[in-house]
Amino acid sequence: QVRRLIEKHPMLYPLHTQDGIWKHEGQVWTHWSDGFLPGMMWMFAKRSERDSPEAKYWMEQAARYTKPIEERKKDRDVHDLGFLFLSTYYRWYRMTHDAALREPLIEAGRTLATRFKEKGGYLRSFVADNSVFIDTMMNVGIIFYAARETGDRKLRDIAMRHCWTTRRVLVRGDGSVAHEGIFDTDTGEFLKQTTHQGYRGDSCWSRGLAWAAYGFTTAYEYSRDPRFLQTAEACADYYITHSPADGVPPWDFSAPAENRTLLDTSAAAIFAAGLTRLCRLAPDPLKGHLYWSTAVQILRSLCEKHLAKIDPKWEGILKGGVYHVHKGVGVDESVMWGEYFFCEALERVLWKG
Ligand code: GLY
Repeated sequence: QVRRLIEKHPMLYPLHTQDGIWKHEGQVWTHWSDGFLPGMMWMFAKRSERDSPEAKYWMEQAARYTKPIEERKKDRDVHDLGFLFLSTYYRWYRMTHDAALREPLIEAGRTLATRFKEKGGYLRSFVADNSVFIDTMMNVGIIFYAARETGDRKLRDIAMRHCWTTRRVLVRGDGSVAHEGIFDTDTGEFLKQTTHQGYRGDSCWSRGLAWAAYGFTTAYEYSRDPRFLQTAEACADYYITHSPADGVPPWDFSAPAENRTLLDTSAAAIFAAGLTRLCRLAPDPLKGHLYWSTAVQILRSLCEKHLAKIDPKWEGILKGGVYHVHKGVGVDESVMWGEYFFCEALERVLWKG
């Protein structure tokens, strides 16, 4: 499907399909997911036979789609620089070890860190100064990376403080999460939990929970702060105990009965990808096994029930993703981050690494 997309629409970076078609005039809302299409190409390049024509093809395409992202390293308008750079330049660097590729990663980390609000101790979301999003847990990794590569303790401090604040204000005692938190910018006082894409402020938006489980796993990998591991496990345990047996959740865990049948396969894909990392870190081996087998179970369910390949007109890989229910954008469609994390989870399960 990726090859078909890039041959049909070269250099298009779609966010979601409309009726299964990538190129359409529908709304985008924000500009955060351009890295995921090239990110899949880096995976295909890595997993193709070394020096084969296929590997060469994917390397060339991946580099071609990655280079235009470099200018986003200075983008101060979004909180999404981890999504953009960890899927592209980080994968490129890991494949080639070309030292020049570290520069855009470090600069992107420094740029993201400029969003830090001293009062309140968080990286502000793209919507306003007073707002923190759970999604930013998936982006803070680029600051940890930049801090590690440069030895800059201030950067590391910003990343740590953002994670502590997110843990305190967005993760609840039962492991569920809120999408957004609102602060008083004058005093730094935390005011309330709310949402944009979830059902409501006190609900648990499924993709937000998946971002949290994966994001706190990454925060633990970089920092070894045991609180982040506990939080990742609490979020994972909430997801597992509140999901149907096949592991594919409704778009919001608290959605009312009449629209609980709307699933979000992208949340399942992200969660499965995160579990393939969390399973190696869990101190209890039984828990580690549970996380691994849940990831496999989710992938099995996605492959058995949600692949688009039985529908020849559908251009995505995975059906049943959801972007923004309230805006009616990308609902029950293929979404590019769903495709990416599905491939990432498959890659980790099939190659065990
Ligand atoms: N902007 C991140 C998300 O929609 O999950």
